[in-house]
Amino acid sequence: MKTYKIAVIPGDGIGPEVIREGVRVMEKLAEADGGFKFDFTWYPWGCDYYLANGCMMPENGLELLRDCDAIYLGAVGRPDVPDHISLWDLLLKIRKGFDQYVNLRPVKLLKGAQCPLAGVKPEDVDMVFVRENSEGEYAGSGAWLYKDQPNEVVIQNGVFSRKGCERVIRYAYELAREKKTSLTSISKGNALNYSMVFWDQIFKEVGRDYPDVETRALLVDAASMFMVKDPKRFGVIVTSNLFGDILTDLGAAIAGGMGLAAGANLNPDGTFPSMFEPIHGSAPDIAGQGIANPLASIWAVSQMMDHFGYPAWGKRIIDIIEEILVEKQALTPDMGGTATTTQVADAVIAKL
Ligand code: NAD
Ligand code: IPM
Ligand code: MN
Repeated sequence: MKTYKIAVIPGDGIGPEVIREGVRVMEKLAEADGGFKFDFTWYPWGCDYYLANGCMMPENGLELLRDCDAIYLGAVGRPDVPDHISLWDLLLKIRKGFDQYVNLRPVKLLKGAQCPLAGVKPEDVDMVFVRENSEGEYAGSGAWLYKDQPNEVVIQNGVFSRKGCERVIRYAYELAREKKTSLTSISKGNALNYSMVFWDQIFKEVGRDYPDVETRALLVDAASMFMVKDPKRFGVIVTSNLFGDILTDLGAAIAGGMGLAAGANLNPDGTFPSMFEPIHGSAPDIAGQGIANPLASIWAVSQMMDHFGYPAWGKRIIDIIEEILVEKQALTPDMGGTATTTQVADAVIAKL
């Protein structure tokens, strides 16, 4: 029997609350399939670990994760630990260290999910973001000069390499071809006169290999407007790290909320493990109450099943989430229900 080694990093706040439930769903999946099983290793890394040990994960953390088949992560961040430390030393360290250069984030409005846009039907919101996940605005290049002096200066560089742009754009073209849908590149070449002009150029260059793919290019300001006014114009979208971060929270908002949005951090070459997570954060405002929505984490399990080569299970999980949204019997308060985190997962498990 095939065994998948899963590194589980629950993290902070609602992270452990939703990941616990996602793991129960995975155990049920393995039981239902009968052909594979999961071997979970839990890592207690995060802000508690930082306050006890002075670091977010041990120095050899990446080595410990390296041999797993996938990483399943909750969320990172706690109000009493600076965010740039907690995120850079754990989540971003894994994304960068394992060259997970594609962040795949579906924005799909399921039946029964609440859409705040007037007159929009589920089939109108069905897009997939391919967010650059290794460099760009998140390259971490810069300086802080003359600290606390009147002439203080900070510099935050965007780093856009030919290799980095080409590979993520090519991935997006392949995906659009496979899904037989359009590809929209979102950039900002009118103002960012080096990085985004380069990005636009590479989008055109790579596109020569994909004459069959219908392409569009949008400026990020107009793109955010169209996501609200006319979401059905989007199929696959490729964009930079920061733009992808912002637009996918907007995407979550139009597709039912943060409690539903999932993302896969992929190392498509397979050199390193990929990581699956909800896109939301540690939600300190609701942590510890047992009411966090686990569906985003469960959707991330669907992405993991796709990644492992079980698309039928990936689809089944999405179908079950949709059934639960339509039935409205087991929804957490963010979706207008009264169920607990565990009760929502129980409903998913019962259907599996
Ligand atoms: P957030 O996503 O944690 O919360 C935003 C809002 O959405 C809150 O009102 C929260 O209650 C709600 N929400 C989020 N997930 C929910 C769920 N599953 N069920 C119900 N409601 C949910 O974003 P934030 O408040 O900006 O950030 C909080 C912390 O999380 C910060 O430290 C931030 O840096 C961190 N963060 C981490 C990740 C990650 O680890 N991947 C992602 C985003 C933010
Ligand atoms: C996300 C998060 C992260 C990001 C933060 C926590 C660094 O917002 O996964 O969307 O910006 O990528
Ligand atoms: Mn984000």
